Amino acid sequence: MFTMKSGSAALILALAAFGANAAVTITVSCGTVGQDFEFCKKATDEWSKKTGNTVKHLTIPQSTSDILGLFRQMFAAKSTDVDVITADIVWPGSLKAHLLDLTPYTKGAEKEHFPAIVANNTVDGKLLAMPWFTDAGVLYYRKDLLAKYNEKAPTTWDELTATARKVMDGERKSGNADMQGYVFQAKAYEGLSCNALEWIASFGGGAIVDASGKVTVNNPQAAKALATAAGWINTISPTGVLNYGEEDARGVFQKGNSVFMRNWPYAWSLSQGADSPVKDKVGVVALPKGADGKSAATLGGWNLAVVRYSTHPAEAADLVMYLSSAAVQKDRAIRGSYNPTIPALYKDGEVLKANPFFGTLYDTFTNAVPRPATLTGAKYNEVSAAFWNTAHDVLSGGVKADEGLKKLEAKINSIRRGPSW
Ligand code: GLC
Repeated sequence: MFTMKSGSAALILALAAFGANAAVTITVSCGTVGQDFEFCKKATDEWSKKTGNTVKHLTIPQSTSDILGLFRQMFAAKSTDVDVITADIVWPGSLKAHLLDLTPYTKGAEKEHFPAIVANNTVDGKLLAMPWFTDAGVLYYRKDLLAKYNEKAPTTWDELTATARKVMDGERKSGNADMQGYVFQAKAYEGLSCNALEWIASFGGGAIVDASGKVTVNNPQAAKALATAAGWINTISPTGVLNYGEEDARGVFQKGNSVFMRNWPYAWSLSQGADSPVKDKVGVVALPKGADGKSAATLGGWNLAVVRYSTHPAEAADLVMYLSSAAVQKDRAIRGSYNPTIPALYKDGEVLKANPFFGTLYDTFTNAVPRPATLTGAKYNEVSAAFWNTAHDVLSGGVKADEGLKKLEAKINSIRRGPSW
């Protein structure tokens, strides 16, 4: 490490000439859900210490839909206010013009990661983001309450509905007026698209758009799935769920006020924290399935990308490589239950001890259903907004499922430019 004495003009000139080791400031957007910020900052602090560079953190909203809106505005103005962003797995197609190709910086490190995620992040032959953590929707349940009522973790949505009702009614009778049966994410945003895709796919209703680019969402199984979910509102789920994001659902479940919760794996480590009222009372299984379908989890996850307008691309890429490394991913997995994107870490004893379901649900994570983001490219957010708005309307009783899906099909077809989107 250089220590510069003031007045050492020759050294300053030399540094300027070779650009060598001059410390820079890199601004990064860490997430804000759960422990996102704390764990991201821990790792950026480590990188700062190692390299002598400074890291600043950009304040961003909580919902992925709002973050995308913010970045779109910043990038339209070619803003240099952020160098490294955490990018949702559904963004590379939308943001491709604004992200740097990381290939020259990775030294092949992407080969250690799940190929499907690397493929997702590769657009027009450019690796636009390094995988950071993967996600899939899972079902959290109260082990203690199911034992008390002599019930098992549900494998079908009908079982979930019946068990939620029975346990909720019983607990309310014995004094907990706040007890709910099932909490999930049904605010009108990307999180609802994830939940609704799981319902529809688990009823055999497909994934909105098929592999050929055709809009398939208007089908009887999809209608059945949405109608089933609408039946939960104000019965096993509070009406307020229509305004819940991830953290709202976790708040209710972790306080001990819901039998079941749909959430991402990050909620596990928090539910097992020393101050958690449900510590040691929680189990995690695959989401239930519809009558003739099979369990489906939406594929989520976050990646790290360098913004094209960064004035320090090499240092920004170095930070991305550090944050996405196996050592950082292992630490985050053990302490924050963030699913690694490196298959080898799923065989790591410490990772599995901290998160037993990383082992039992390995297939859920590797077979999760992707949203049609790669297929619809830059149009994905519009498609998803149409989808989440329809799901929200059906859940709130504004439209019947079959009618809503018919209109949605027309709407998505109007967004589509042609067969190849
Ligand atoms: C999680 C997922 C992300 C998804 C979001 C929806 O953060 O990792 O892929 O878009 O939830 O709220």
